Amino acid sequence: MGGIVPKLAHHAHMRNLPEVVREAIQKAGLGDDLSKIDVVAVTRGPGLAHCLGVGLNAAKTLAAALNKPLIGVHHMEAHALTARLTTADDAQHNSEPYISATGAVNYAPVGSDPYPSFPFLTLLVSGGHTLLLVAHSVDRYTTLATTVDDSIGEAFDKSARELDIPWLPGRAGGPGASLEAYAKGSKSPTRYLDQLPIPMSLRKTKREMKFSFAGLKSAVTRAVEKEKKAGQGIMDEDKKMDLAAGFQHCAITHLCQKVEQGLRDCQEQGIQISSLVISGGVGRNATLRQKMEEVCANYELETQKKTKGSEVDKTKRVRVICPPPKLCTDNAVMIAWTGLERYQKGLIDRYDIDIAPKWPL
Ligand code: KG4
Ligand code: ZN
Repeated sequence: MGGIVPKLAHHAHMRNLPEVVREAIQKAGLGDDLSKIDVVAVTRGPGLAHCLGVGLNAAKTLAAALNKPLIGVHHMEAHALTARLTTADDAQHNSEPYISATGAVNYAPVGSDPYPSFPFLTLLVSGGHTLLLVAHSVDRYTTLATTVDDSIGEAFDKSARELDIPWLPGRAGGPGASLEAYAKGSKSPTRYLDQLPIPMSLRKTKREMKFSFAGLKSAVTRAVEKEKKAGQGIMDEDKKMDLAAGFQHCAITHLCQKVEQGLRDCQEQGIQISSLVISGGVGRNATLRQKMEEVCANYELETQKKTKGSEVDKTKRVRVICPPPKLCTDNAVMIAWTGLERYQKGLIDRYDIDIAPKWPL
């Protein structure tokens, strides 16, 4: 149950896109003056072929008709670069707001690079992906780890379903956010920890740069079955909260361990990481953000020890950067921003580019 029905999604794209484009142009305050558009950016992939096709064709036509450059954007690059848009306020900036389609006012950094500066680590955690990347520059990424089975978002969603956690459709964040709220209510968060594994943490898998959530998800299912058997088909709310907390602890600890390893690997390779960017829907999770702060603080201590207590350059601290929740989930602003970053590097595409439903970063 759940998920996207490709045919319905395709039809919805065809039906709604023209009106969405019109509304975006109005909200951006362009009125009838489309000459103010500098460039047209569009998602080229990865994703559902038919949906991508609708968007790409609309964008190509718009760009060609306006005689403006076209930029095809990789969905995951856009997640990774969003942080550079949302913290642009920190940098020296122009006083003129220039992307305001979301209602958020952001400023064009003038004369200084947007923050975070390259290279930085990106943890992309969503319903479709669990990826740890090094962003070396616009258009250049190295994948450090990806999932061998489910994505973390799927694990959150399926565990929420197993636990019958009520999800109010329309509530921001979906089942994952509901599970987080349940976990928060737990009075005994360690109750189920002996039944739940922290994935890839055994001696032989500890150093492997892979994510895996299938085993943890099955362990949640088994724990629910056991409780329901004992409770004549019912699991009480307190226990549900405890199991939600246990699941969340194991899933986040797994992410933390691999990020720690990634930081160390980068250091060994002489890659000076400036920040850890967390993005994607699961990046809305407050516990995840807080635990990643701890990972980076510990990493700093570790580095300090290695340099034998000599003064550590605070500007080299790995900062945790999370775009605001509404820009963590899929959105069009991140595509516009990435289009701009690519445009500034001269990465312009031809009007005859094709969709890229499967597109490695
Ligand atoms: O990036 P996203 O909006 O869509 C894609 O999958 O591309 O991510 C959606 C995922 C869902 O699995 C949802 O349950 C999860 O993000 N999610 C959360 C939270 N908010 C959203 N997971 C854990 N904690 C949250 N607060
Ligand atoms: Zn996404």
